Amino acid sequence: NWSMETFIEDQIREIREVVGEQKVLCALSGGVDSSVVAMLIHEAIGDQLTCMFIDHGLLRKGEAESVMDTFVGKFDMKVVKIDAQERFLSKLKGVDDPEKKRKIIGNEFIYVFDEESSKFDDFAFLAQGTLYTDIVESGTETAHTIKSHHNVGGLPEDMKFTLIEPLKALFKDEVRKVGEELGLPDEIVHRQPFPGPGLAIRVLGEVTEDKLTIVRDSDYILREEIAKAGLDREIWQYFTALPNMKSVGVMGDARTYSYTVGIRAVTSIDGMTADWARIPWDILEKISVRIVNEVENVNRIVYDVTSKPPATIEWE
Ligand code: XMP
Repeated sequence: NWSMETFIEDQIREIREVVGEQKVLCALSGGVDSSVVAMLIHEAIGDQLTCMFIDHGLLRKGEAESVMDTFVGKFDMKVVKIDAQERFLSKLKGVDDPEKKRKIIGNEFIYVFDEESSKFDDFAFLAQGTLYTDIVESGTETAHTIKSHHNVGGLPEDMKFTLIEPLKALFKDEVRKVGEELGLPDEIVHRQPFPGPGLAIRVLGEVTEDKLTIVRDSDYILREEIAKAGLDREIWQYFTALPNMKSVGVMGDARTYSYTVGIRAVTSIDGMTADWARIPWDILEKISVRIVNEVENVNRIVYDVTSKPPATIEWE
């Protein structure tokens, strides 16, 4: 019979015992798991913890700022932010294959982490937000055959740190409860899933700065309207994608030739299967009008009405 309070107390005691006076490094992504780990360890050892947050330039609008505001501003934690946007973007130049994009991003993430963490020589431990399901799934690999779901955050095995994984016996809903109890804001505890490769797999084909801007800005509008409509809890995941395609439109008296933006929204339990979300027409209309008006170079919006299977949730 799992009790959250005892779990937290036990973990804090154990972390203090194991760590002693030494220092811990935690790779913070802003996702639920790494956020809860960081909070838990900070609760246990305070400033002996340093978090590393790598901004690969493929995050959603406002995401990096919000991570820093929360963990540095609100919780007064030590967070080193690494701005690696240019590095990732230059590695992705000319690459249009989805699996290649994933590999490049995953590898680059490890290089950046390695390089940056070696600048500190006094960390004895590395904290990770590994969950029970991560251990089970990576054991079988069956969930990994359709796409290489390598979470950005998968770390090299030859590291000099000892791993601390305080969540490894927990399921996702338990992690959320721990996060709530530790005072993490709702927007993190109930955050929709976001893939490690980020917006790179939502810009179909080659990733460019201009295309990232279109996805980022249209996604922001979508999230705003979904929240306003109070649908953010019942829709499991929702985002925009930019297919590699332009079409003809008309604006005023002039013909336009601009990008199409796709809206994807699904209901699901675990992401393995999904149904397209029945967003009310009037809300879809608001989203469509806003994106076309507010995002440059977009003249057409389509709504994805395929379930998984046969489609996947992401478009790449
Ligand atoms: P698909 O598109 O396979 O997605 O139906 C199922 C869930 O997995 C997420 N996803 C990823 N997560 N790295 C990740 O960390 C990836 O490469 C990746 N690809 C898909 C997707 O957002 C959805 O929640």
